[in-house]
Amino acid sequence: MRITSLGHSAFLLEGRDRVLIDPFLTGNPMASTTADKVDCDIICVTHGHGDHLGDAVNIARRTGAVVASIIEMSEWLEKTGVKSVGFNMGGTATIRNTKITMVPAFHSSSIGAPGLEFSAAMAVGMVVDSGKVVYHAGDTCVFGDMKLIGELYKPDVALLPIGGFFTMDPRQAAMATGLINPKIAIPMHYGTWPPIEQDPKEFEKLAKKSSKAKIVILKPGEHLEV
Ligand code: NI
Ligand code: MN
Repeated sequence: MRITSLGHSAFLLEGRDRVLIDPFLTGNPMASTTADKVDCDIICVTHGHGDHLGDAVNIARRTGAVVASIIEMSEWLEKTGVKSVGFNMGGTATIRNTKITMVPAFHSSSIGAPGLEFSAAMAVGMVVDSGKVVYHAGDTCVFGDMKLIGELYKPDVALLPIGGFFTMDPRQAAMATGLINPKIAIPMHYGTWPPIEQDPKEFEKLAKKSSKAKIVILKPGEHLEV
């Protein structure tokens, strides 16, 4: 599988299928591509905030990709005319040749412009098995049940927010890496705007103490073969 960082929390996994996660490209100062160029079979959306739902609707309309999300968001997505699979935490959806399991995240979720938002149920994480197992934690603080996610799904790769302010910071993300015990951890959701400026090397230093994981720092546009 090839894992490409597209900036912020947006990643493209190219395994048995091409899975795009949290495709925030338009308006993303870190984006390495644009919404009209990216191609995929499946889109995973962890929650409704603009920096995660992002361009999902437009990309799904253009490509015909199926969007995987929590059930309430899926019902909204269907109204926009895209194909969507709505499920919930603990559940696994099989789309094409990929299994996607929804797992908890501690965060809020809404859809809409400022002042016009409506609740979009809960924020979640996604464990995507498309040849290799990749856990995208979405936006979350650290929580002890990350250990269960690690034991149940044995992720090859964990994508973990480190920006602080809205999510885990490097110290929490290092603790999360120890709980999840992935082979590889990749930091995300930092450096996009001033409140989430962080040095990924700080995460790397702390995670090396709390886990055996290899830490891979991907700049937007860079990829890793696993
Ligand atoms: Ni968020
Ligand atoms: Mn976010």
